[in-house]
Amino acid sequence: MTTRAGRRPLTARAHAAVAPRLFPGALAVDATAGNGHDTRFLAGAVGATGRVWAFDVQPPALEATAQRLQAAGLAQRVHLIQAGHEHLADHLPPEARGRLAAVLFNLGYLPGGDHSRITRPETTLAALEAALAWLHPRGVVSVLAYRGHDGGKAEYEALQAWLARRTPVVRCLHRESPAAHAPVLLLLERGDTPGGCMQDRPCGKFPVQKPLSPEIP
Ligand SMILES: C[S@@+](CC[C@H](N)C(=O)[O-])C[C@H]1O[C@@H](n2cnc3c(N)ncnc32)[C@H](O)[C@@H]1O
Repeated sequence: MTTRAGRRPLTARAHAAVAPRLFPGALAVDATAGNGHDTRFLAGAVGATGRVWAFDVQPPALEATAQRLQAAGLAQRVHLIQAGHEHLADHLPPEARGRLAAVLFNLGYLPGGDHSRITRPETTLAALEAALAWLHPRGVVSVLAYRGHDGGKAEYEALQAWLARRTPVVRCLHRESPAAHAPVLLLLERGDTPGGCMQDRPCGKFPVQKPLSPEIP
């Protein structure tokens, strides 16, 4: 699928960038389940032995995600969690710490849902810190930030300030924004990754080299 400008949507670009870090048995988090498109992508990519934890604060979002997973036959691979992503550490088994291959954030509001229930800077930043703490050294965090809705620009600015503060603990691999008020795609990884990535190189060139152990009790 492409946009009218002939570009793939940023969600598809995020999936393409994250895909090389995923493999059968990988562990992943969808920090904002929404309508379940990202959760479905992750569930497909981690295979039958992988696990995905998908968070959302709204029951309609989790219901939509559950339906999408069931239709795809992927529900068994996913833990659906009705909680804010800032509570990630309370919901993942300790064995998953340091082993997440990917954490996806698709910020903003639920399309087709309540537009007043948006992600917020304080909780988004707390969740990003948790994501970094639980990320595998070769894992990736994808953040899709929207600047067009009320609160979206402030959230993106908070995100930028956090990134400036937390570099080099977190490294920005890639930043993509086609126009001034358009959504922004950020790809982040831990700053202590050996032989880390340069900002101008596509993430796909840096696959996970040592597979994570697939066993999760
Ligand atoms: C743009 S949608 C996500 C789209 C989704 N990833 C998809 O593939 O359809 C943003 C979602 O973030 C959720 N959200 C808001 N605050 C949250 C929080 N603190 N923790 C987790 N999810 C949150 C909203 O309820 C909404 O469903």
